[in-house]
Amino acid sequence: MIVTIDGPAGAGKTSVAKGLAQRLGALFLDTGAMYRAVALAGCRAGIDWQAPSQLADLARSMEFRLDGSRVLLDGQDVTDAIRSSELQPYIRRAADDPEVRRELIRRQRAFAARGDVVTEGRDQGTLVFPEADRKFFLTASPQERARRRFKELQKWGETGTLEQVLEQQQQRDRQDQGRPWGRLTRAADAIEVDTDGLSLEQVVDRLEQWVRKPRPPVDSNEN
Ligand code: DC
Repeated sequence: MIVTIDGPAGAGKTSVAKGLAQRLGALFLDTGAMYRAVALAGCRAGIDWQAPSQLADLARSMEFRLDGSRVLLDGQDVTDAIRSSELQPYIRRAADDPEVRRELIRRQRAFAARGDVVTEGRDQGTLVFPEADRKFFLTASPQERARRRFKELQKWGETGTLEQVLEQQQQRDRQDQGRPWGRLTRAADAIEVDTDGLSLEQVVDRLEQWVRKPRPPVDSNEN
């Protein structure tokens, strides 16, 4: 079974996907962490950012692993490092690179072949798993999303104001929606869930109900 959760930054995808995977006894895949890890690998290797093939080579050679909530890059715990705001411009370079995307999509599909999976990102229901069993598109108002992100950044000890977070978020939304490959868009068959005013528990409850609901049989008279 493949369950996809797509949506803009700050809609709560990661926590929801993690919670849902736990309830279903499924694997959890954070595809944003993969793009972040490629960017970090590029910075650490000191690649020439004007020579994009170097980044794609790194994407192909890196060892990426999710161990519960921890993200491991070449065996090293980079859970916090991949969330640093200084990495943001490089994450964008990774996400905009078609060769990097091709490689990460290949890895995402290989991951899903290992068992039931709840995967979250921008293009999971549209491009990576168009045949997924259930697709969700999580949204929330820009203000609510920025508030969540701001709280998260404070937890990591980052400075900055809520207004700055909101501004950066608008910029990221434009980038995510404007990307020629794998851009953020809701799959036609995705269920849209507005998470404003809902607790994490309530959102996971709602998604779990949908996933467990029997799907209507396919109409056999169609042909
Ligand atoms: O969800 P996130 O903030 O961790 O994602 C990090 C970046 O990767 C963000 O710029 C969007 C991009 N991304 C993507 O292009 N495709 C995905 N499937 C997941 C994330």
